[in-house]
Amino acid sequence: MTDTQTGTDAQAAAEPADDAQATVTMRIWRGDDEGGEFTDYVMPAVEGEVVLDVIHRIQATDAPDLACRWNCKAGKCGSCSAEINGLPRLMCMTRMDTLPEGEAVTVAPMKTFPIIRDLVTDVSFNYEVAKTIPAFKPGPEPEGGCHVIRDHEDNKPKYAGPRFFIRFAELEMHPLDVNDRRELAHDRGLGMCNITKCCTEVCPEHIKITDNAIIPMKERVVDARYDPVAWLGRKITGRSKKTAEEASAG
Ligand code: FES
Repeated sequence: MTDTQTGTDAQAAAEPADDAQATVTMRIWRGDDEGGEFTDYVMPAVEGEVVLDVIHRIQATDAPDLACRWNCKAGKCGSCSAEINGLPRLMCMTRMDTLPEGEAVTVAPMKTFPIIRDLVTDVSFNYEVAKTIPAFKPGPEPEGGCHVIRDHEDNKPKYAGPRFFIRFAELEMHPLDVNDRRELAHDRGLGMCNITKCCTEVCPEHIKITDNAIIPMKERVVDARYDPVAWLGRKITGRSKKTAEEASAG
């Protein structure tokens, strides 16, 4: 896309609003590392614009040599950072209608970095710092990264599998259900699942098995087995679900 840009390669001017009286005053810092000053540009107000849009219109009409930097126009890259009304902001994400109406909008280069020209600063410091931080380096694949069944034949008899974890979850989460299957889910291998989402990826019905069944069930099992507060709460309120044995006994 772009780096430092002037009006010669900026977008064409947008259509001004119907109301020719409505204008915005953009007070933009112009200069370089030896000094500069603010210059006012009075532009037609256009509904829905962000500050960067107005800057582009100024480049396209009044100041083709106005330098600014931008790249994604989606709030991701940070290239369009500037001091808008005295605060560091992204020009591409600052809507004109969020700024005080009737007042000039000041746009100045970021104070943090040395000025190159107009709104463009020298951000090479960022790249130097980034180079000093070691890159991501993965270690050997952890045991937990293996598939619980396909890579471990001996798990097959114990591991109930995603279809039955869905069954556990739909029953456990039913508001009228009073049976408690959490111990059983644990015994049937719920803890073996490494939540790698491999079942979700291949589910023909596109059910979010991991997010909507396995993880909530894991949380419930942890509550039942390890959370002393939850245990005490159940003791006090008596709102404990029946265990599998109690349920089968009626
Ligand atoms: S252009 Fe990338 S954040 Fe604004």
